Amino acid sequence: MEPFCGGVAVSLALAPAKAVLNDRNPHVINFYSWLARGLEITMPMENDEQQFYAHRARFNDLLRAGQHQTAEAAALFYYLNRTGFNGLCRFNRTGEFNVPFGRYARINYRRDFLPYAKLFQRWEFRSGDFETVPLEPDDFVYADPPYDVPFTQYAAEVFRWEEQERAAEWLARHPGPVVLSNQATERICRLYAKLGFDLNYRDAPRRISCTGDRTPAKEVIASRNLGAGGCGSPKSTRQRAKVVRPAGPALNPGG
Ligand SMILES: C[S@@+](CC[C@H](N)C(=O)[O-])C[C@H]1O[C@@H](n2cnc3c(N)ncnc32)[C@H](O)[C@@H]1O
Repeated sequence: MEPFCGGVAVSLALAPAKAVLNDRNPHVINFYSWLARGLEITMPMENDEQQFYAHRARFNDLLRAGQHQTAEAAALFYYLNRTGFNGLCRFNRTGEFNVPFGRYARINYRRDFLPYAKLFQRWEFRSGDFETVPLEPDDFVYADPPYDVPFTQYAAEVFRWEEQERAAEWLARHPGPVVLSNQATERICRLYAKLGFDLNYRDAPRRISCTGDRTPAKEVIASRNLGAGGCGSPKSTRQRAKVVRPAGPALNPGG
């Protein structure tokens, strides 16, 4: 279970045969649901400022027309995410995607996502608040909420401190194995320790930043209910799910 799945890096790396992937950002989830249907992108994709703003305008037109669940919206979202500034996924108060052009030297666009289809068809995708994810007692949960930093506008709303607390408390109530990662700020470490998580630290490359600063940040990996083998109770069918490797490179939409 990934209640904050973003770019699904962990699920793609582990490739479990079954998974429930949730994100509050409906565009990320729409993209994945089209990957499961074998998305192929035929529209022009170039690292070009004029084309970027034309595609951004078309994407926002689709959102206004209620066509955010179409294959075209999924393809545009992929292009905008790859081409926009620093891989950001940001919307203004009226729900329009407003990330500026990214100025990358070179971008390799992928057109054929068929290699992902088989794996993604086995997974369930949901878009909503993390607390709406139905957890069974022995589900393995990997949770990667927005970093505890002032700049946390992944979707339309900010992930406030109260939400960090709500997420940590929700995960602490789960009787099954949980791994939780976050920026190792003092208050986050205090909160997770208070709730009974075991804490480990590591230097992680900053993945998203409004300034483009990617200097290493201290990250905390907090865990609960991990068994001696590090994977909790062996009873869960989801945990025992056969591991299959995806054919293709990692994705990074919205993450
Ligand atoms: C740090 S990112 C996850 C990155 C992910 N691990 C990856 O591999 O790219 C956090 C994600 O949480 C999502 N998010 C923010 N608030 C949420 C909420 N209340 N419920 C569910 N997802 C939320 C954001 O849209 C964002 O994709």
